[in-house]
Amino acid sequence: MVHSKMTRMARVAIVGVGAIGGVVASLLQSAGKHELMLCVRRPMKGLVVESPSIGLRSDMEEEIRPEMRIRASIWTQPEEAQPVDWVLIATKAYDAAETARWLEWLREKNTPAAILQNGVEHRERFAPYMPEACIVPVIVDCPAERRPPQKGFDRIAQRGPMSLRVPQGPLGKRFVELFADTLADAEAVEDWTTVAWKKLCLNSAGVLSALLLKPAGIMREDDIGEVAMDLVRECAAVGRAEGAKLDDDLPEQVLAASRRAAVDSVNSLLADRIAERPMEIDARNGAVVRIGRKHGIPTPVNNMAATLLRAMVAE
Ligand SMILES: NC(=O)c1ccc[n+]([C@@H]2O[C@H](COP(=O)([O-])OP(=O)(O)OC[C@H]3O[C@@H](n4cnc5c(N)ncnc54)[C@H](OP(=O)(O)O)[C@@H]3O)[C@@H](O)[C@H]2O)c1
Repeated sequence: MVHSKMTRMARVAIVGVGAIGGVVASLLQSAGKHELMLCVRRPMKGLVVESPSIGLRSDMEEEIRPEMRIRASIWTQPEEAQPVDWVLIATKAYDAAETARWLEWLREKNTPAAILQNGVEHRERFAPYMPEACIVPVIVDCPAERRPPQKGFDRIAQRGPMSLRVPQGPLGKRFVELFADTLADAEAVEDWTTVAWKKLCLNSAGVLSALLLKPAGIMREDDIGEVAMDLVRECAAVGRAEGAKLDDDLPEQVLAASRRAAVDSVNSLLADRIAERPMEIDARNGAVVRIGRKHGIPTPVNNMAATLLRAMVAE
């Protein structure tokens, strides 16, 4: 969304400069006023982000370059970091404890930290490390991936527009203002819980790809589709108990959306499994099981999927 209102410059630290952190860096740079700090754990010469030429206003196309080299300070150790106005965390959910080490150096008493991660437990994940009132949970939608480095520069490819949803409130408003004058579709929504659980419902079905080591095309098979809908049904029941307003036919909607995806598209659980990285099982199907237990809602299908996937990759 492009806002015409001019907003103030901010010093912004992005912790975790992978697919989402890289796209966020390019969007904030395009606003032309923020100072960016990239907080990485691997030394990085620099970062290039390839952006799509979609969703642009026709009068802006001239201004958008397909590739953007990010101008930012790069910090590799938390001890090098200086306090900033905003911390944006874009690591995987399973890296929360290591990521949190940056907060001590980047934050002053009231510095907000936005958590751009999947799942529904953004606040719970970071509350042990900072005041909960300063945490801004963000639901991100944006197809993006890491590409092989070129000439020593890390590369990220953004494949579609980025949408960012935060809860309404003073910090939500300030977060949205950060993205003024950019192509990000950033919005503070009244019912963030519903947005978050809808996304988790979609993600809950994705576990099947990771279990079977097959891309999205498997969702087109009838029996797999039935299991996918069972996963979503359980997730939606738990989400409703948490206050989310979810359509009765959400399982059918999720399955239809999964079947519209390109047959060879690979979700992040599958990508992580193939690359032998840890997976966000706990933040996704694990969360459905855990939060379900709190409400006395059985989630046997999610439990089996999460348990089998964990067992398959355990050494
Ligand atoms: N990619 C998507 O299309 C997409 C879409 C929607 C939501 N999401 C969600 O967004 C979140 C981020 O995903 P992603 O795809 O951007 O992940 P990613 O590409 O794996 O990037 C995560 C980055 O965090 C870095 N990191 C991990 N621990 C760190 C630490 N202690 N200090 C500094 N950097 C650290 C990693 O470093 P290394 O380079 O050393 O591994 C990596 O560069 C996840 O919750 C994901 O589910 C992703």
